[in-house]
Amino acid sequence: SKEKRALYIIFGATGDLASRKLYPALYRLYSKGYLKEHFAVIGTARREWSDEYYQNIVKEAVDSISDSEADAEAFSSHFRYQSHNVNDSEHYHTLKNLADSLDTKYDIQGNRIFYLSMSPNFFGTITKHLRDQKLVTENGFNRVIIEKPFGTDFESSQHLNNEINDSFDENQLYRIDHYLGKEMVQTILALRFSNRLIKESWNSDSLSSIQVTLSEDLGVEERGGYYDKSGALRDMVQNHILQIVSLLTMDEPDSYTTENVRKEKLAVLKSLKRPNVAEDFVRGQYSFSDNGNLKAYRDEEKVSADSMTETYVAGKVTVDTDKWRDVPIYIRTGKRMKEKTSRVDVLWKKTDQQIFDEGDSILTIHISPDEGIELQLNDKKIGPGMEIQPVSLEAMRSKEMLKARPEAYEKLLLDVLNGDETHFAHWGEVAASWKYVDFIREAWNKDLENIPFYTACSMGPKEADDLLAKDNQKWLYNP
Ligand code: BG6
Repeated sequence: SKEKRALYIIFGATGDLASRKLYPALYRLYSKGYLKEHFAVIGTARREWSDEYYQNIVKEAVDSISDSEADAEAFSSHFRYQSHNVNDSEHYHTLKNLADSLDTKYDIQGNRIFYLSMSPNFFGTITKHLRDQKLVTENGFNRVIIEKPFGTDFESSQHLNNEINDSFDENQLYRIDHYLGKEMVQTILALRFSNRLIKESWNSDSLSSIQVTLSEDLGVEERGGYYDKSGALRDMVQNHILQIVSLLTMDEPDSYTTENVRKEKLAVLKSLKRPNVAEDFVRGQYSFSDNGNLKAYRDEEKVSADSMTETYVAGKVTVDTDKWRDVPIYIRTGKRMKEKTSRVDVLWKKTDQQIFDEGDSILTIHISPDEGIELQLNDKKIGPGMEIQPVSLEAMRSKEMLKARPEAYEKLLLDVLNGDETHFAHWGEVAASWKYVDFIREAWNKDLENIPFYTACSMGPKEADDLLAKDNQKWLYNP
């Protein structure tokens, strides 16, 4: 049977992420039979909640997706709540007793998944206590899921990693980058390595540029406190964008195993060329919208009135290997842009001879909200003569397919149950990404006066267009 045994202990169970993503994802694993009788969840946080109250929160979180009320009820009956002070050894003692009794009750056989979904400041304390207070079992697996942000720069992330490594080995750690759980991000390797057509021309002889866009229409919403210290570079580039870049440019692994995939991703991330920041990177901050309906970033809650934090980044990334040096990889991400879209556009060079008046050949990987692939090619226009016209071959996932396909968190949580680390960020990748991002951050910190503003609901500052124009390129996606 596909049923797995696991006891989850969630640190940060009262948080927004838990209700929005974790409980629904666990429910989906439950309704598909991966979790059934032999699982339990202990939610912890500082707040005083009763089991009943917690179970109601869980029920509400899965309300819109549950098969029936009875089902949601049965699912939530596996949840317990413990008010917990992460620094208090006594509390871990209580937690251990509760964990052991649930383990017996549901015959879980020692499998434990510790989910750290709170400030990284506490990760060291928590993991140490888990080990010292013997919440780590001898008879089953012990895995730790870690939510972002994994530090705020290389140094802090290394410190964090060392602390965690005192109690858990790298192969027990599952650092979540939810983009790696998205179907269309996983599709990148499938497209690249199972199509000779694409594989053979995925190089600097053939490609003109690669463009990664992760644009958001929302502003910082209620996360101003976190975001104003972070900014777009740390929030989106260090993790999601660089992970996507590594998948787009890594060499073909010897075989599709965690170890081989990680090896190739790491090689790329270590080869990122330190950019000329002033030339190659653009930051921006949103100001109010033209119609005045949307506030400027500086007027958002918990954001300082003279904030220099970037809510937008565009840049030219270079992978400094013979294979990639000559292919610019343009990236951009921002809050309060025109549309919420995640996509990759790959532009081929024109043919050497150009005997026809050819247009662009472009592969677009739509990550979200649309999902699918689109290939723009040159076709002959019907009729006399040899007039060329663009044609678009599309394989977009239908509404029904999107409804049925697993969501990123569901896929990633199933991977954790299976002990598959392929779609999680390895320490080496995280370290290399931080070093690259720190380099840009340091350059920007030396010049805090010159942050360009962009109108809310636009595609970013004009400087981002200039960046490509210098190379005779332009953003292929331009809503
Ligand atoms: C998170 C960032 O990692 O990703 C958020 O912290 C951002 O600021 C989010 O909104 C975007 O994810 P998605 O899946 O909605 O594109």
